[in-house]
Amino acid sequence: MSHQTSNSQLHNKSAGWSALFSEPMSELVKRYTASVFFDKRLALFDIAGSLAHAQMLSEQGIVSNQDFSDIQRGLEQIKSEIQAGTFEWQLDLEDVHLNIEARLTSLVGMAGKRLHTGRSRNDQVATDIRLWLRAQIDDIIVALSNLRTGLLDVAEREAATILPGFTHLQVAQPITFGHHLLAYVNMFARDAERMVDTRKRVNRLPLGAAALAGTTYPIKRERVAELLGFDEVCTNSLDAVSDRDFAIEFCAAASLIMMHISRLSEELVNWMSPRVGFIDLADRFCTGSSIMPQKKNPDVPELARGKTGRVYGDLMSLLTLMKGQPLAYNKDNQEDKEPLFDAVDTVLETLLIFTEMVQGITVKPENMRAAALQGFATATDLADYLVKKGLPFRDAHEAVAHAVKICTHKKCDLADLNLAELRAATDLSAEQQTLIEADVSHCLTLEGSVAARNHVGGTAPEQVRAEIAKWRSQ
Ligand code: ARG
Repeated sequence: MSHQTSNSQLHNKSAGWSALFSEPMSELVKRYTASVFFDKRLALFDIAGSLAHAQMLSEQGIVSNQDFSDIQRGLEQIKSEIQAGTFEWQLDLEDVHLNIEARLTSLVGMAGKRLHTGRSRNDQVATDIRLWLRAQIDDIIVALSNLRTGLLDVAEREAATILPGFTHLQVAQPITFGHHLLAYVNMFARDAERMVDTRKRVNRLPLGAAALAGTTYPIKRERVAELLGFDEVCTNSLDAVSDRDFAIEFCAAASLIMMHISRLSEELVNWMSPRVGFIDLADRFCTGSSIMPQKKNPDVPELARGKTGRVYGDLMSLLTLMKGQPLAYNKDNQEDKEPLFDAVDTVLETLLIFTEMVQGITVKPENMRAAALQGFATATDLADYLVKKGLPFRDAHEAVAHAVKICTHKKCDLADLNLAELRAATDLSAEQQTLIEADVSHCLTLEGSVAARNHVGGTAPEQVRAEIAKWRSQ
């Protein structure tokens, strides 16, 4: 290769990497090792990182002001080309970094060749991913907040709507639909907390670690961190280029989001089943069947339940990617991007569609009520009533079990027994039976049951409204 390498030959692997190589890279290897088709997604963050690096180099006198201004001009043009879709991505140039650098050199000449002073693609790519992921995390935090707002709107509307609460998928106690939805508001709030926390460890600057050991130039890493909005710099160069904990942590937090989405999906599917009939989802979120004209299927929640597996898979990919890697950078790391991109895309799209979908939930209160009236949902309330009249809880529990058994035989509800029948059904002593008085009927109603759970975290409509107000003020 001649001493005067032309700009277009820079990093061109058809021509070979450098004078060291005696033959060009095999086509197969070129395709196998290239990442440009997916990592071009990092382009604008790569440019931002390069601009900050170049500015620091010029401030430190490592490159001239003229070089910096040429680099700036060139990178701005490349940015416009990328945004306009006219930038020509070349497989020969392997990845986003080499594509942009080669174009820069073809645009501005020598200054372009100076950009890579004091850095390596190893610290460059780690910086790019962190910048990119930070922006995605910010979007996810907003998307989680929007979803919570959507859920709060429905919860407010249905603060006093009663349905059965289940344990073991058996009717347990009456609850309010607003309260049920607030459970998900809590989950998605914790998810946002985890994103905020993960962001702290994402927001550290690897640049300056260079290939692995640092660099011999008088760089100023804190300045680059400041220019790029990083909270701090990564303090060990080997760790800086090889650490992907932040991506794993992100995927773990993303997996929890999807797990919550999947639980909600399972409930939506179940509630919409004609056998349950608690809700309807707006038609625009459902699909029909190609053969059965009567069908309206909740495809969106089902698909979200399925996509949860993808995100768990992304987490497993990254954990496995890292487990056998010695320090410092290894090419394995190039495999970090697609799972990470996939996790972000899946979570963001899912949150967006769920935010719209939950607002299209219409409830069928009469079906919820009918279901809550089956299965002796107020049995615990009767036991609590007896306890308040002085019976020990275990005895009260036993007495109510007797009454439930009688009702099961009679095929009726506790509330259907008159006072004398109810007293007798408890199998309590004659004296203890007198503890049950006419006021018992209130605690056996669904409304009485939910209203009685009137403490922080309880299902009473009053508490639900107070919780909603608290969430909204946050
Ligand atoms: N495309 C590479 C990646 O994604 C960039 C870093 C390449 N570094 C190297 N030494 N081969 O990780």
